[in-house]
Amino acid sequence: MIYMLDTADIKAICKAVDLYPLAGVTTNPSIVAKENRPLKEILLDIRECIGPDRMLHAQVMAKDAETMLQEALALRSIDPEIIVKVPVTPQGIKAMKLIASEGILITATAILTPQQALMAAVAGAEFLAPYVNRLDNICSDGVAVAAEMVALIENYNLDAKVLGASFKNTQQVHQLALAGAHSVTIAPDVFDQLLVHPLTDSGVAGFVADWEGVYGADTNVLDVL
Ligand code: G3P
Repeated sequence: MIYMLDTADIKAICKAVDLYPLAGVTTNPSIVAKENRPLKEILLDIRECIGPDRMLHAQVMAKDAETMLQEALALRSIDPEIIVKVPVTPQGIKAMKLIASEGILITATAILTPQQALMAAVAGAEFLAPYVNRLDNICSDGVAVAAEMVALIENYNLDAKVLGASFKNTQQVHQLALAGAHSVTIAPDVFDQLLVHPLTDSGVAGFVADWEGVYGADTNVLDVL
């Protein structure tokens, strides 16, 4: 599983980089707008926090393919490793062909159907981002849609990876992992929930109590070896 964090909140990103096996950070226009500061500043701050080797995804905003390509090039001039997110509109698919021919990695985004994903993969997208919770919200089945995308990638032996996005709970993440999704991007609050279980907390508390009863408070293995 390739884990990414879906946010531009620098504090949350730095915390997740420190704690988790994080492969990258994804942003979108809404996420960026929430920060209410210059885009360049946001992207450079995220890069500083995640280091040179993790992925950073940022989205184009133009309505026509040629301008999307110019946006992609401009984003890459700020950060040469940036992965460019492009929505799966007709102009977006055209832009994916143009951007891919420049050797720039693409994440196809705002995906709600498997056929959008398939065409994006054929057009050159590396990651395909289905919006799982937004599908669930309209009485569709986000996990099932993503699972069909995984099947299409296998059927056609494509290089693209499903990047599950738009999660509101850990069960959606879990079901997507079972469906064979290659990667997920998760907001910080849901990401933290992936490790939460009261029996884990009480189990660790029990270990501490038993240990401290014999070896003393605030000691660890190093103190007693
Ligand atoms: O990055 C795109 C996706 O994660 C959107 O999520 O929560 O706005 O549906 P959400």
